[in-house]
Amino acid sequence: MLKGKKYFIKTYGCQMNENDSEKIAGLLKEAGGIVAGNIDDADMIIFNTCCVRENAELKLDGHLGRIKALATGKPGLTIAVGGCLVQQPGAAERLLQKHRHIDLVFGTYRINGIVQLIEKAMSDKAAVCDVSEQPYPSFDKELAGSTLAGFDKSLRKERFKAWVTIMQGCDNCCSYCIVPYVRGRERSRTPGDILRQLRSLAAEGCREITLLGQNVNSYGKNPEITFGEDQPDAGIRNFADLLRAAGKISGISRIRFMTSHPKDLSRDLISAIKDTPAVCRHLHLPVQSGSNRILGEMNRKYTREHYMELVSEIRRTIPGIALTTDIITGYPGETDEDFEQTLDLVRKVRFDSAYTFIYSPRKGTPAAEKPQLAEKDALKKRFAALKELQDKISREINDSYKGTMQSVLVEGPSSTDPGKFTGRTETGKTVNFKGKDLRAGDFADVKITGTLTWHLEGSVPDDAGQAGEAGDVRT
Ligand code: 5AD
Ligand code: SF4
Repeated sequence: MLKGKKYFIKTYGCQMNENDSEKIAGLLKEAGGIVAGNIDDADMIIFNTCCVRENAELKLDGHLGRIKALATGKPGLTIAVGGCLVQQPGAAERLLQKHRHIDLVFGTYRINGIVQLIEKAMSDKAAVCDVSEQPYPSFDKELAGSTLAGFDKSLRKERFKAWVTIMQGCDNCCSYCIVPYVRGRERSRTPGDILRQLRSLAAEGCREITLLGQNVNSYGKNPEITFGEDQPDAGIRNFADLLRAAGKISGISRIRFMTSHPKDLSRDLISAIKDTPAVCRHLHLPVQSGSNRILGEMNRKYTREHYMELVSEIRRTIPGIALTTDIITGYPGETDEDFEQTLDLVRKVRFDSAYTFIYSPRKGTPAAEKPQLAEKDALKKRFAALKELQDKISREINDSYKGTMQSVLVEGPSSTDPGKFTGRTETGKTVNFKGKDLRAGDFADVKITGTLTWHLEGSVPDDAGQAGEAGDVRT
């Protein structure tokens, strides 16, 4: 039924959602679907949604409103909305009420069934709504009944790099966060399943993989299928073991991972990062706040002192490692003193970069029940001060790269700097640089000649060690 039909997927939110969308694309392709050049050309439009903060919801609302005319003028068009947002209690009904042109709503547990659900939506007159928390039955015998099946069929945008979901869900219940409610309990893919996918990615020429999970440090605690003693990868019990095993796969030169919870980051994991050459010297370690009172309220289960000790140990063990983080300001009850503690931690830790957010109340979470900070202008000021401080530090750290040689994994021609290439250092920094005869997936030794807040600039020295000229930029 989907053969020759064109699909267009719009993704909101995090890398896990991006990877889910690649899985959806892979399943649609397997059923005969083809990617649409643009939204107007599509027979199926799929929105893969996020609800971690309110602005993602507002954006979705805007997009659904805008395609109403398209839907009216094209009776055969199927519009599907899936992912985190629709998994919230009552959200699916509200969406279907508000946007009558939606044909299908599917929850986070039902992604494996996307083909069957779209086919049903195409043949039924009424909208189809399936937000059941039962995993869609998988055709993969080993993973039958798993929400984690099918990632090996993901359709990637880039040949040289891939996301690999290793676990889903979260058992942590941070008081502000909706994720545990819409993604469910933690469950891990088996090591055998993950390593099989990694080996086949390596064979296809993939150079960089990013292992994904809401909290990769709890990998293996709640396996979907028991990690059986009889399995070939039975020695793998936790995330550090998985990293070491992934590091042995030849062809994969760079391994990244996210996200790590500070309370679960073990010594063994720090050693695994240090001892496994393919694992990049970059750690994303969300701190959320620098105030012990707020960290307690957030149910983060660590203190600022513990976090800073962890950072010292990581930096002692792995010199030159880049540290990035997530920070929320404006949590209910956050005072000027609490915020000052956050600024103080940022000054002391000196993150390479930080994703900063203004707290957004999420219905159903404990923090949403508390009295909210009403002073919007004061909140904006806190946010701006945090951003200004972090930008300054990012810029200073980038400046320290000037004059160094960096191994850069080439991503292709730069979209912002015509005539130059773009790529990333091991520490995750974007470099726009001059070079010759390079393709996406190549490694280039780049001399860093200049720095900005968000990226580095450089060039590949020629044989005589001189800065190279902009050359033959190919895709
Ligand atoms: N409001 C603001 N930011 C949030 N995050 C999660 N929930 C909220 C919320 N309700 C941020 C956290 C998390 C990142 C993915 O999103 O910093 O680490
Ligand atoms: Fe949300 Fe906390 Fe789980 Fe991260 S660790 S997904 S912030 S509940």
